[in-house]
Amino acid sequence: MSVDNIPEEIQQLCEEIDLHNYRYHVLDEPTVPDAHYDKLFKQLKVWESQNPALVSAQSPTQRVGARPNSGFGQITHEMPMLSLDNAFNPAELSDFDVRLRDRLGRSADKPIEYACEPKLDGIAVSLLYEDGLLIRGATRGDGAVGEDITHNVRTIPSIPLKLRGTGYPQKLEVRGEIYMLKAGFKAMNEKAAKSGDKTFVNPRNAAAGSIRQLDPRITATRPLEMCCYSIGVVSDGEMPADHYATLQLLNQWGLKINPYLQKSNGITDALGYIEKMQQLRTELPYEIDGLVFKVNNYNLQQRLGFISRAPRWAIAYKFPAQEEITQIEQVEFQVGRTGAITPVARLTPVFVGGVTVSNATLHNMDEIARLELKVGDWVVVHRAGDVIPKVVRVIRDKRPGDATEVEFPDACPVCQSAIVRIEGEVISRCSGGLTCAAQRKEALVHYVSKKALDIDGLGEKLIDTLVSKEMVAKFDDIYYLSKVNLMRLERMGDKSVDKLLATIERTKHTSLDKFIYALGIREVGEATARNLAREFGYLARILAADVERLEQVADVGPIVAKHIVSFFAQPHNLEVIDNLRSAGVTWPEAEPVAEDELLLAGKVYVLTGTLEQMGRSEAKAYLQELGAKVSGSVSKKTDCLVAGTAAGSKLKKAQDLEIEILTEQQFVDFLKTQGVEV
Ligand code: IVH
Repeated sequence: MSVDNIPEEIQQLCEEIDLHNYRYHVLDEPTVPDAHYDKLFKQLKVWESQNPALVSAQSPTQRVGARPNSGFGQITHEMPMLSLDNAFNPAELSDFDVRLRDRLGRSADKPIEYACEPKLDGIAVSLLYEDGLLIRGATRGDGAVGEDITHNVRTIPSIPLKLRGTGYPQKLEVRGEIYMLKAGFKAMNEKAAKSGDKTFVNPRNAAAGSIRQLDPRITATRPLEMCCYSIGVVSDGEMPADHYATLQLLNQWGLKINPYLQKSNGITDALGYIEKMQQLRTELPYEIDGLVFKVNNYNLQQRLGFISRAPRWAIAYKFPAQEEITQIEQVEFQVGRTGAITPVARLTPVFVGGVTVSNATLHNMDEIARLELKVGDWVVVHRAGDVIPKVVRVIRDKRPGDATEVEFPDACPVCQSAIVRIEGEVISRCSGGLTCAAQRKEALVHYVSKKALDIDGLGEKLIDTLVSKEMVAKFDDIYYLSKVNLMRLERMGDKSVDKLLATIERTKHTSLDKFIYALGIREVGEATARNLAREFGYLARILAADVERLEQVADVGPIVAKHIVSFFAQPHNLEVIDNLRSAGVTWPEAEPVAEDELLLAGKVYVLTGTLEQMGRSEAKAYLQELGAKVSGSVSKKTDCLVAGTAAGSKLKKAQDLEIEILTEQQFVDFLKTQGVEV
């Protein structure tokens, strides 16, 4: 920067930064990376600090004032800020059009042109520009008198401190809505909740709270935007003859307008706009509570005039409220297809988001605790578009004296199995697996799927039928399906039944990884199953591994390891494995050895008493792994008895028959010699 033209250089840099601001915040079309913008901004700050006399009030560095205000001054609106009449359905919107045409003496073949725009859910403000400079910002207040929020509006990047281009009136009042983006609101609230600060109930309240901050430095941190939707006082200047063209011009002067602003020819077109915007609504990055239809032509607007505090030439088409209040009648617990236990609120039916809602998800117990919700409470229910209704907050002041705590069940409401919650997970699950009717179908579909046992021909529909007819409840039931029974089913002919039975038979020979995957252990996908099979070789070794050992396997983190351990800790899951083996499901293990070459081939073992270091089924699996048969009772054919603590009659009988007896420790030591880590 040469010494002679400092003012010019600073001004040029201000303009360049302003242009980038406009492209980024108003047009949503940035042309330079953020880092480049930051560099320019930093440069400007340096130059300004070296030349304090040259800092203009409109410089991009001057958006945030240095200190808090002591209060808000009052501002009387030269032209009152009006509100809008409402329509709640297409018929009411058509009535509005008919009313206007009657007044204007227009026949049906001379449609009125409307400007259609989203009704932004924020707070209405007025900005005053004189000679292109922002000199004042005010809230709507009661429509006649509002509050001076100049210091705060200056911090909003989509509001220009200086209008762009030329041709603007000497005095121009611009009106519009300040609102907060949904994402910014969520992030801000999460941060506030973490640090124990006050949270806002919705983006509108957050916007209102932010704009009424005494300290503009706080407002500056809030993700606010402003879209302009009309003009107020104009003097010494020409403006276009219609609303749409006016907004386009405001946009050229650097003000943000809504990208969904459009013109419609008559009301039928406007109905199409409703359709389109309703679809888009949930995807918009900000909240809208309806649409606004305005007669586009200013002459017509003038002819139509006002009724009390609302213009006759505009109407708000309100969407059904997305939030309503109602009472919690009961909290019930549902079991999902994966066993997840979800608390569901039964509500006194309420009309919200366009439908009657009588149930809402409460997600999990943490959510209930977060909401501090009790049965009997009055709550705010939110439903947006297709989204499942949600309880957003409890109205504490309305809590009835007899409200009761929500009690989480100890056992699965469907199958009474234990409910488990893995450390570090928010979701509690039924441990019933296949024994739980709620999970049965899903588990079976998974078991027969391509990457699992691959029983082609046993599709979801057929499983549905088999489950509902109670022909199949557990995995191994598949292997006992008979031709006669299958033939009785609809659309099952001789050939297809034969084919299915042959497939079932053939696929009994599977691989260890497919078998592990088929069991449907939570978060054990194909790859994890393969890694487990490769690393352990034998199912028994996987069964015996603890969390620490499992975590050494590729792909297995602490959560997955816990899922695996908790799966095999459930006796009914071990039973499933036993039953499948009994039904003939087999797989080659790591070092395939012929049946008769196995160490315990042909030997009969009996287990009795309580085993401390492993479960009964686990011990059984180890023995089977080594080729032994495991029998339930002691006889002359028994080769060996493994006796845990508190062994009773079986031990006595074995002693009488002089059968070899192993204590648990001896058994464990023996297993170790066979490479089995217990
Ligand atoms: S026009 C005389 N256009 O809705 C016309 N208002 O119920 C006055 N609003 O206070 C407003 N989006 O805060 C208009 N596109 C839009 C709007 C809009 C939101 C708000 C505004 C006003 C309220 C009227």
